[in-house]
Amino acid sequence: MADTLVALDQGTTSTRTILFDADLTPIASAQEEFAQHYPRSGWVEHDAMDLWETSRRCLAQVLTEVRPAALGITNQRETTVVWNADTGKPLAPAIVWQDRRTSETCARLRAEGFETEVTARTGLLLDPYFSATKLAYILDQHDGAREAAKAGRMKFGTVDTWLIWNLTEGRVHATDATNACRTMLYNIHEGRWDQTICDRLGIPMEILPEVRDSAADFGETTLFGAALPIRGVAGDQQAATVGQACFTPGMMKSTYGTGCFALLNTGAHPVASQHRLLTTIAYQLNGTPTYALEGSIFVAGAVVQWLRDELGVIEQASDTLEMAQKADPEQQLYLIPAFTGLGAPWWDAEARGAIYGLTRNSGPNEFARAALESVGYQTRDLIEAMHADWTAPQETTLRVDGGLSANPFAMQFLADILGAPVDRPANLETTALGAAYLAGLAVGLCPAPQEFARNWRAEATFSPEMDKTTREMKYNGWTDAIRRTLSH
Ligand code: G3P
Repeated sequence: MADTLVALDQGTTSTRTILFDADLTPIASAQEEFAQHYPRSGWVEHDAMDLWETSRRCLAQVLTEVRPAALGITNQRETTVVWNADTGKPLAPAIVWQDRRTSETCARLRAEGFETEVTARTGLLLDPYFSATKLAYILDQHDGAREAAKAGRMKFGTVDTWLIWNLTEGRVHATDATNACRTMLYNIHEGRWDQTICDRLGIPMEILPEVRDSAADFGETTLFGAALPIRGVAGDQQAATVGQACFTPGMMKSTYGTGCFALLNTGAHPVASQHRLLTTIAYQLNGTPTYALEGSIFVAGAVVQWLRDELGVIEQASDTLEMAQKADPEQQLYLIPAFTGLGAPWWDAEARGAIYGLTRNSGPNEFARAALESVGYQTRDLIEAMHADWTAPQETTLRVDGGLSANPFAMQFLADILGAPVDRPANLETTALGAAYLAGLAVGLCPAPQEFARNWRAEATFSPEMDKTTREMKYNGWTDAIRRTLSH
């Protein structure tokens, strides 16, 4: 069927492909997990070949009988791959976005006053989260890598670029603006790689991919039979923003996977955050970027995994619903899931998890409720920062997606603590949907953004039910708990 679209979603813990019909309804899918490597404390690596092989197999599974009109790629962002252009072999394991090994480099550059420069050019903070210092680290570890890069024999890419290279068998070395802007090497105002930052980090610009729109020509793959055009590319959080149809300035989505990433569309102009949010590109169409403010929380769904895998108080994630409903209403526990530090707006890498308010009656039910509530409280922290940075009119409704958004207790608490409605779409796979939509837009199969937005429907709306006094009392308690947890 030429009127189908296929999305490849290469995420942090699994690779997925989803086939969509012309109305963007999912009709087939495949999924594979792959190994996570933790060679040292704070280090997180993937085998880049695993990312490619799982992608190839998942695509093969959904492409057995169909020939879609186009492929859209979406991916875990910031994760850094360097490979040999002649052999196609990775030079080193992929360094994952969660990896903190370049903390000291970042601290030194901050001490030298370089963060102001980085933020002004890239919209980001000087943090190991982004690709730039990971790439410099790989080049430092391999003699001759910089010379090879200058001669065009070494290539760098975020995961999208690595997959495009493999899909096109080395014909295309390209990325899109939403992925480029997460490298900390891309000037989001000028729309090009930044010479000053590359020079400071010793990164030869020849190693960098060409930056294209999010709906554009990224070549064809012929690995699955007849040529399949690659026409959509976006980082996963930006693809979810597109899939949630947040095309109007002031609209906002929040995705609850392992972590939580909230993006607020700010339109044609980048907004510089005064509250340690990131300025990022939401999508780029026809050469024009649309900007967003982003808040990144490192632990959201992962707190439920922690209840299951470390505390052993639940068997499966869905158990938390009944337990939270049964929890003693008289107890007020605050669980701060700073297992790997705190992300936005605190950016405290040294903070560690804490729980406050324990009594002799506190048990698994109260822990489950506190875990789900921590997701709502952290989101409110982000929204407060967004309100402070963005004073133009803002939609009060928050659109949610991702695994944890299926939990009605967590979503009702979110609406309560925000004091604002929360909309959840029928299709929680909005990331893949966004990638498919971008590809469909490029080949003329999908309607223009505003029409797509008009057809967007919520499957469930959670309206705030908590009274204002309770809400503010609870949130003040959270703010106090955070203050006691910060390392500085
Ligand atoms: O910035 C990291 C983000 O893109 C990872 O998303 O869904 O793969 O955990 P996910």
